Amino acid sequence: MADKKFQAMIVKEDENKQFTREICEQSISDLPDGDVLIRVSYSALNYKDALSATGNRGVTRKYPHTPGVDAAGIVEQSNVDSFKPGDNVIVTSYDLGMNTAGGFGQYIRVPAGWVIPLPKELTLKQSMIYGTAGLTAGMCVSRIIDGGITPDSGDILVTGATGGVGSMAVAILAKCGYKVIGVTGKSAETEYLKKLGAADIMTREDATDSGKRPLLKAKWAGVVDTVGGDILATAIKSSMHNAVVACCGLVASPDLPLTVFPFILRGISLIGIDSQNYPMTDRVSIWKNLSEKWKPDALESTGHEVGLKDLNPKIDEILKGRVKGRIIVKLDDQ
Ligand SMILES: NC(=O)c1ccc[n+]([C@@H]2O[C@H](COP(=O)([O-])OP(=O)(O)OC[C@H]3O[C@@H](n4cnc5c(N)ncnc54)[C@H](OP(=O)(O)O)[C@@H]3O)[C@@H](O)[C@H]2O)c1
Repeated sequence: MADKKFQAMIVKEDENKQFTREICEQSISDLPDGDVLIRVSYSALNYKDALSATGNRGVTRKYPHTPGVDAAGIVEQSNVDSFKPGDNVIVTSYDLGMNTAGGFGQYIRVPAGWVIPLPKELTLKQSMIYGTAGLTAGMCVSRIIDGGITPDSGDILVTGATGGVGSMAVAILAKCGYKVIGVTGKSAETEYLKKLGAADIMTREDATDSGKRPLLKAKWAGVVDTVGGDILATAIKSSMHNAVVACCGLVASPDLPLTVFPFILRGISLIGIDSQNYPMTDRVSIWKNLSEKWKPDALESTGHEVGLKDLNPKIDEILKGRVKGRIIVKLDDQ
């Protein structure tokens, strides 16, 4: 194949150590080696992409770089038998968009071990409405279910509820029959959260206890936390006996000001979620559930589509916690 040109967002560091973002022409030969070359139809914006796009070395060590931890598209070339040109596929996380050129470009080339066939019940666009956020939310829900928490066990709290992971968690839990309470800083989005399936809403202030008591009135049978800090600590202190708390994010804070009392007096389990290195067999099982029994009726309404050229301001918005649902990036008609 001739060295095809394509469009990609390139993040560069200038001589004053400032990071800039531009849509540039790239060549297939600029991509890293890999088994599968994929023409990207859709990507999506995650909080981690915004960190990569603003020079966060904890996410991306070397620049210039193309972010985008999520990509869905069509195989163009493959040197493995498991994928053939024309196959619809999904790639999320591993090193995509971190130190491997990611989904904010019209082509990616990746190891075959990162690629999942698109489940037949999902479109490429729907798979990116889920993306890493949906996979992560699905992992949290799976751990709550595996921990023996059923809809009869009690209410489930979801923090950062209007965000990508939060919206997906609210919608999936509601689809599974749980009564979901969403914590949000966006009081104007109550209707949005109720349409996703939330039974009720709490403000961030109401979800934060600044007192020193090690335990609070037990309210939650399960928690999906995307924010960390005082809100997560309050959620754990307010959880019931044997509750399962799945912790995946830190947009509020990486700190966790707690004692051990919730764990030793109430048997609460705090479960860490790492979607990046989640084993492929477990990923396939989560994607199967996302495409079948967990698929929310309101899935499409959580996705807001933009082109690559309109992505830049969304990156600043997600860092300020202003994004609602999922920003989907359409790559195939730039
Ligand atoms: N562990 C993993 O594998 C994994 C995978 C994916 C994402 N993550 C992490 O999960 C977190 C959420 O990711 P995302 O892509 O869903 O981000 P997002 O779309 O920006 O959602 C985060 C939401 O958190 C709330 N929020 C923002 N700032 C806050 C603050 N200071 N205090 C309390 N709440 C705040 C906002 O929702 P409201 O306005 O509704 O409160 C915001 O929309 C990030 O830390 C991300 O890195 C981890």
